[in-house]
Amino acid sequence: MYAILASLALSLALSSNAFYLPGAAPRNYGKGDQVDLFVNALTPMLSGKDDAKLVHDYYNPKLKFCQPEGGPTKQSESLGGILFGDRIFNSPFDIKMLESNQTCQTLCKTTVDADEAKFINDRIREDYALNWLIDGLPAAEMKVDLRTNELFYDIGFNLGNDDEPFEQSPALNNHYEIVLRYHEYSEGVYRIVGVLVWPYSIGGDQQGDATCNTENTDPLLLKETSSQDIRYTYRVTWNESSTPWATRWDNYLKIADPRIHWFSLVNSIVIVIFLLVMVSMILLRSVTRDISRYNAIDMSEDVQEDWGWKLVHGEVFRSPAHPMILGIMTGNGAQLCSMVGVTLVFALLGFLSPSNRGSLATVMMVCFSFFGCIGGYVSSRVYSSLGGMDKRKNAFVTATGLPTIVFMIVFLLNFFLLIANSSGAVPFGTLLVIALLWFGISAPLSAIGSYFGSKHGAIRHPVRVNPIPRQIPPGPKYLRPWSAALLSGILPFGAAFVELYFIMSSLFASKAYYAFGFIALTAAVMGITVATVSILFTYFMLCAEEYRWHWRSFLIGGGNAFWILAYGVFYWASRLSLDSFSSVALYMGYLFLLALLDFLVTGTIGFLASYWAVRKLYSAIRID
Ligand SMILES: *[C@@H]1O[C@H](CO)[C@@H](O)[C@H](O)[C@H]1NC(C)=O
Ligand SMILES: *[C@@H]1O[C@H](CO)[C@@H](O)[C@H](O)[C@H]1NC(C)=O
Repeated sequence: MYAILASLALSLALSSNAFYLPGAAPRNYGKGDQVDLFVNALTPMLSGKDDAKLVHDYYNPKLKFCQPEGGPTKQSESLGGILFGDRIFNSPFDIKMLESNQTCQTLCKTTVDADEAKFINDRIREDYALNWLIDGLPAAEMKVDLRTNELFYDIGFNLGNDDEPFEQSPALNNHYEIVLRYHEYSEGVYRIVGVLVWPYSIGGDQQGDATCNTENTDPLLLKETSSQDIRYTYRVTWNESSTPWATRWDNYLKIADPRIHWFSLVNSIVIVIFLLVMVSMILLRSVTRDISRYNAIDMSEDVQEDWGWKLVHGEVFRSPAHPMILGIMTGNGAQLCSMVGVTLVFALLGFLSPSNRGSLATVMMVCFSFFGCIGGYVSSRVYSSLGGMDKRKNAFVTATGLPTIVFMIVFLLNFFLLIANSSGAVPFGTLLVIALLWFGISAPLSAIGSYFGSKHGAIRHPVRVNPIPRQIPPGPKYLRPWSAALLSGILPFGAAFVELYFIMSSLFASKAYYAFGFIALTAAVMGITVATVSILFTYFMLCAEEYRWHWRSFLIGGGNAFWILAYGVFYWASRLSLDSFSSVALYMGYLFLLALLDFLVTGTIGFLASYWAVRKLYSAIRID
């Protein structure tokens, strides 16, 4: 088993290296070498205005951008990049290293009719941004952080301008000032370390020779009544930079304000320390007191008077209802948990360089497939420990259940994307690759895991189960399953709240968010919180002579998923205004998927932690 795991880890490490290399190897240019400019899909900028979640292909026929000779060709992209809506094509820009400095060049002339003008104007009003890539770097606008006066690069730049005085008819940006920052690596060898674009709208005559004069010109307003010519122009400026290639991403990844992350992290750590102190007080003090009293009573008196959690010693390991579903959920949760853990470790080690777009999603999917063996193993062992007999069915559903559900949701979402005609829709071929990855690698590995799990068999329990179940006295209200789940979910949710906000904004506004350090720490804090809260509630439950803790500990662990769901709906209602039905369906679909996966992961942590604690608890007392 360990040999298999080790070789899996090795192959994963190697393959993730392979993910990393294409984007990570520096590219050297000599003077006059061709520098390719690739165009990615248009995305809405997050400016609090109108966030349509849809992305549009750059070469959407209605946008009328200049096409390269022979039509656009698609550039190869990673699986994750495609999933996240990357649609990268080549472009007609003719850029040569260190040549044509500051020369005004015409890209092409094109004509838009009234219909197309309306389409473009609508996209400008929705604050769509252009996304270009040069040498793996996204084109950005240089901005100043108003609070700190620091310069930072904001990825993407505006399609047009609809601020004052252009609210009525927006101005289309048809001129691009491109500043390419280069670093001289050695004599005659150059590397690109920064891509900045300032878009301008230059109106007036669109037919004659271009001057690229950006000052004192009227903007280009598109009439929605008749057809009209547009001339696209650009000017490249080569600017020497002292930034070495290795740190070229630093300007892009400046976290807007790291203080808020620190604040949230300190906040979560305080919560965790508070919790740990509380749990250790309760569990260590009262439990050791209980145990010594239980064991003392036995020695001094013949008649045994039981109280507290010892009363249910004959019940705690009674099989819960639906042990198979619980086993399957735990197995899948463990699989997801390992996936998240390994992905975060890779991210922290720097394997998932942002220079290789989409690598995060790719690594996550590959990890998930390979950790099928962990899922199968955990599921099968938990299932037999809970007294399950139908091991084959358990192995089968573990291997296929979750992938099928997730796949169905993704398929449905994709369907909505297709309806909305968005280029974010996953192509059929990619869906096929994912299905192959899941059902071709994950499922067999899961079956192998189940085989080893059932060979190792059930976990031995320290106390026997009574033949006749006990009556359960009515317990306090807060220990009822749903109130306990909601109550206990607040703490882990509170610990993760701020990071969640940033992840949401980056997911739904296509902004780079790479504070992996903060995410990893937050995930660790959340895991510890979930485990301690579940143990605490399980202890309370057993003290109240409520012995049906299996399902409840899972629910208590996963309780934060309900808060995440509620928060997502709140975020939608307060910050996003998605008007079309398909955008709302998409948002809700992603949100549901996120909450579902979170429920499985944290529920598994809660259940396994409680299982461990219950076994420890009942091994410590003497029972005749
Ligand atoms: C390009 O032009 C700008 C502005 O005139 C100048 O600062 C820069 O040094 C020039 N770059 C090269 C490589 O000549
Ligand atoms: C070129 O770089 C220098 C700093 O290295 C900067 O001050 C200047 O504004 C840059 N030029 C352009 C056109 O961006």
